[in-house]
Amino acid sequence: MDAQQQKSIRVAVRVRPILPADGATGATLLQLDAGRPGEVFLANGGDKRAVRRYTFDQVFGPDTKQHELYERAGVPAMVAAAAAGYHATIFAYGQTGSGKTFTMEGYRYVTRGGSQGPAGGDARQPPVAPAADPSATPEEQLGIVPRAVRELFAAAARDTSRRFTIKCSFVQIYREQVYDLLNPATMEALPGVGRGGARGARRVGGVVGGPLRMRWSQQEEFYLENLFTPEVESAEEAIQAFQAGVANKVMASHRLNASSSRSHCLFTLHVSSAPADSPLELRSARLTLVDLAGSERAATTGATEGALRDESVAINKSLFTLRQVIAALTDAAAAAATAAAGGAGGGFSAPAPHVPYRDSKLTCLLKHSLGGSSLTLMLACLSPADRFLEENASTLDYAARARRITNQVAVNEDPRSRLIRELRAEVAFLRQQLEAAGLPHRSQLPTSLAASAPCASALPAGSITPPAVTPASAAPPSTKSVGTTGIPAGANHNDAPAAPGDEDEAAYANQLRATDVEVLVRSVIEASRVAVASSSALAGLRGAYTRACASLESLRTEHDALVAEDTRLRDRLAMLEALVADSVTGAYDLRGQRPAGRSSASSIDAQRGEGLPMAGGEPGWYTASAAALIELEELRRAAAVQAGPVA
Ligand SMILES: Nc1ncnc2c1ncn2[C@@H]1O[C@H](COP(=O)(O)OP(=O)(O)OP(=O)(O)O)[C@@H](O)[C@H]1O
Ligand SMILES: [Mg+2]
Repeated sequence: MDAQQQKSIRVAVRVRPILPADGATGATLLQLDAGRPGEVFLANGGDKRAVRRYTFDQVFGPDTKQHELYERAGVPAMVAAAAAGYHATIFAYGQTGSGKTFTMEGYRYVTRGGSQGPAGGDARQPPVAPAADPSATPEEQLGIVPRAVRELFAAAARDTSRRFTIKCSFVQIYREQVYDLLNPATMEALPGVGRGGARGARRVGGVVGGPLRMRWSQQEEFYLENLFTPEVESAEEAIQAFQAGVANKVMASHRLNASSSRSHCLFTLHVSSAPADSPLELRSARLTLVDLAGSERAATTGATEGALRDESVAINKSLFTLRQVIAALTDAAAAAATAAAGGAGGGFSAPAPHVPYRDSKLTCLLKHSLGGSSLTLMLACLSPADRFLEENASTLDYAARARRITNQVAVNEDPRSRLIRELRAEVAFLRQQLEAAGLPHRSQLPTSLAASAPCASALPAGSITPPAVTPASAAPPSTKSVGTTGIPAGANHNDAPAAPGDEDEAAYANQLRATDVEVLVRSVIEASRVAVASSSALAGLRGAYTRACASLESLRTEHDALVAEDTRLRDRLAMLEALVADSVTGAYDLRGQRPAGRSSASSIDAQRGEGLPMAGGEPGWYTASAAALIELEELRRAAAVQAGPVA
């Protein structure tokens, strides 16, 4: 599995064209790709020599087409990364009316009566919410979301080695509450707000919904309880879900934007995949596409009272936290760089600055994108008009800061898949050890998960009981009751609500998975037990072998000594035999000299001393012969004794 990699947040700047709503103001202060590609100059209105310079990954001018931005900003690569198991986030940031929704969605918006343009109008008329009209939107104007959805399904279809499951969710953060755009029931508690039309609370089917509760878990960090996450089987289905959610967003008109987002919207594609032949090796990633509401000043938007003003306050507050988070992360990066540069000498490291993610729902939900584990692209949107100098300066400042944030990205493997992979490796290792020891193992360890089920029943009775792995504990956490939201029990941030048949199938699949894990755990434990027993038997055998080797060595030494002694005795015996034979025939005197006329032939009788010459004939020679005969007899006896053990 891939290791973690450090990836900086990429930042692209997009400047929209001048629109009639911008009035007669000039557009001279911004210069794009000024010195070199990616450079932006922003002149101070009063003093054109006081220019701020910024460098970004890409800069897109007013004439940039949607498809061009999509390609050149590297969106296809991010979608491919999500299909490969990496989290990816694209978010559009900028002041109100700067083109964020146009960049992310691209849909044409209409106000009641079909007119487009800033809300001017009659203050006595009830406010009219702008509504997206996807069917009236030309293909080339489609923004990043519909394009990325198609790209993702195409990437999944291309990769035939893996099976993909794609789900989607869509939420809006409105006045610091999170609402499920795919589950209109949660919207019914919106204070004084209707969707896709006039403002005003509504009840559907007598059920009053409420905002989603945000929770924290070790694995998933911040997540939304009861979030509706339906599975989508085609790009068209996903786009339909997106459009249904877009219709539920809170939109309004104000002086700077006729179709102004009053909430931050996060559309997420949850992509999981596994090899076709190994369905438990799951990778799960999220592709999060974010259209933020824009910062705004009441003086310029005219949002000085009522819901519009309250929305404005909430938007600015959460964007303030977002900027604080960006600032804290860049400070942390700078501190780390300083510590690394002076690391050898200093020894003092300042504490990491606090990053205030928890101060807003938006930063909680973007935590993995900012300083987390996601590949992140920030699209900084600018209005070209000179009168937005201050807003543009602020946007460019924070975009430049965000570019210094690094995330730690890695393929997201499902924890259960990781467990299974590790167990498999362990089984293979133990199996190898058993084979190397040449010991037969009693359990039939599974060679594949498909083969593992029968193996469970083959486990010997009395083996160590593995920790229980139940379908419930193997299932993802946070499946909650329906409550009053009207969401089916299976619908949470991980699971789509299923049709009755699907539910049974899902439960059965979960049970199978749990059984597979249990079988693997049992197999590993049994294999460990056999390995431990065989290694202790092996240790005993080794001790016995060492002792046997030592006694063999001492026997060899003894044997060699006896062989040497035997050889020495045989030599001496041969020499004495020859001597005795010669003495009988008078061939030698005691000085070893052969007297003349004596024969060298010996005889058995002579060796036995029979027929020896009488004393007084040649006395010196006779005495020596007798002594030799005695010694010869002794040697024969000794040789007979020695011959036993060495034979
Ligand atoms: N690149 C562009 N080309 C043509 N028109 C654009 C472009 N960008 C934005 N517009 C137009 O500018 C207006 C404002 O854009 P948009 O609604 O996307 O702004 P926004 O940043 O989402 O604002 P808010 O924060 O208020 O939601 C819209 O009428 C939109 O069609
Ligand atoms: Mg918008």
